[in-house]
Amino acid sequence: MTKARVAVLISGTGSNMAALIEASRADDCPYEVVCVLANKPEAPGLERACALGVEAVAVDQRAFGKDRNAHERAIHAELTARNVEWIALAGYMRLLTPEFVAWWAGRMINIHPSLLPKYPGLDTHRRALDAGDTEAGCTVHHVVDAVDAGPIIAQARVPVLAGDTVETLAARVLAAEHQLYPAALIQAVAAV
Ligand code: GRF
Repeated sequence: MTKARVAVLISGTGSNMAALIEASRADDCPYEVVCVLANKPEAPGLERACALGVEAVAVDQRAFGKDRNAHERAIHAELTARNVEWIALAGYMRLLTPEFVAWWAGRMINIHPSLLPKYPGLDTHRRALDAGDTEAGCTVHHVVDAVDAGPIIAQARVPVLAGDTVETLAARVLAAEHQLYPAALIQAVAAV
C-alpha cells in the first residue's frame, strides 16, 4: 500500500501530533507522517517528534519579519522538498495566508476544540462553560480561507460535567481529540 505523505504543522506541545504519529504505526494505516514542522524553533513538539523518530523542521517566522507570504513560501518549499501530500494542522497558532490555503486546498485539515460551528477562535472551553452547555467536543475540518471554517470531516462529543473548570473540560476534550484526529485523517485520505 502506498501511504499518503503527511506533514503535521504545530506551534506548541504537539499532543495531537504524537497521536497522529502513533496511529500511523499500524500496518494498515493509509498515511505516514514524514515531517513535523513548527513556526518557531522552541515549540516543544519538535523534540517530541524527534523522540518519535520523525523529522522535525522549524521555519522561524521571526526570520521573515511581517512578510507572512515569504514565511509560508519557505514552509511550502520544505514540504514540497519532502513530497508532502497532506497537511494536518495540530495547534498551529498562526493564521495562514490565502495563497498558502489555496496551494493546499482539499489537502489540509485542522482540529479545533469545539463543536463547530460553535465557538470558532480562542477560549472555546471558557465559552462553552459560560454558555451552560451540557456537551462539548472537537471538530476536524478541511481548511478554507476563513478561521475554523471549512467542510467538517468528523466530530467527537464529550459531556460537560457539574463542577467542570476550563482545565478539566479541556483535558476531556483533548483526550477525545487524540482519538478523533487520526480517524478523521484516515477518512479524509481515503476519500480522495
Ligand atoms: C488542541 O486543543 C487543538 O484542538 C487546538 O490546539 C490544541 C493543540 O494541542 N487547535 P496539542 O499541541 O496538540 O497538545
